[in-house]
Amino acid sequence: MKITLNVMRQAGPNDEARLVAYELVGLSEDMSFLEMLDVLNEQLTERGEDPVAFDSDCREGICGMCGIVINGVAHGPERTTTCQLHMRSFKDGDTITLEPWRASAFPVIKDLVVDRSAFDRIIQAGGYISVNTGAAPDAHATPVPKADADRAFEAAACIGCGACVAACPNASAMLFTAAKVTHLGLLPQGQPEREARVVNMLHQHDVEGFGGCTNIGECSAVCPKEIPLDVIGTLNADLGHALVRNK
Ligand code: SF4
Ligand code: FES
Repeated sequence: MKITLNVMRQAGPNDEARLVAYELVGLSEDMSFLEMLDVLNEQLTERGEDPVAFDSDCREGICGMCGIVINGVAHGPERTTTCQLHMRSFKDGDTITLEPWRASAFPVIKDLVVDRSAFDRIIQAGGYISVNTGAAPDAHATPVPKADADRAFEAAACIGCGACVAACPNASAMLFTAAKVTHLGLLPQGQPEREARVVNMLHQHDVEGFGGCTNIGECSAVCPKEIPLDVIGTLNADLGHALVRNK
């Protein structure tokens, strides 16, 4: 395959961003998208040029580190993570444009790498269970209704990649926050902190500068883990209960 890449390059947080074109030839359609970028970076390094900075870790779709806006879509044309995207999703001769996640709460560090520590601070604000939940046998002895277990498991699949924020016109992190609130709030172990959790996590969400949700749904459409939009309804219900009971 031969492709042309238009890569948004930015040397540092305060530098100007500009699109730079690169031509790559001899690519295999069986390469992953990140392997294709590895080829680009090898060539840039050999030429003495600065390689393109991008994030990745597991390259198996489980860690949430990777994330590039590809041809205007977070994670690209397939509903998967950037690392699980393959070159067979593109045609020979294609031009592909690569940009970082765009959100003021995710400042660009370099090229395609953004600072997603705002997500960590939302988790620190309440995305945990700090009460004593006992040992493993206690977990087995605590019944959880099957429907709740399934929904909690579905929400727990969120890998914190941030594609939902990148896709949202409001740069809202509501799908991410709601996935965490739903995951913990449906389990018996999550009940003691349920009200404080939703209030504190949402407060931190707003402090970080993420926008509000206006039910557009782009977040769920690009989510590689198919987190359903209705977790935001669960978050809103929890928030309503918390505010009524504590006013
Ligand atoms: S909700 Fe989906 S898109 Fe958003 S951070 Fe979690 S896995 Fe990524
Ligand atoms: S590198 Fe881990 S999910 Fe893509």
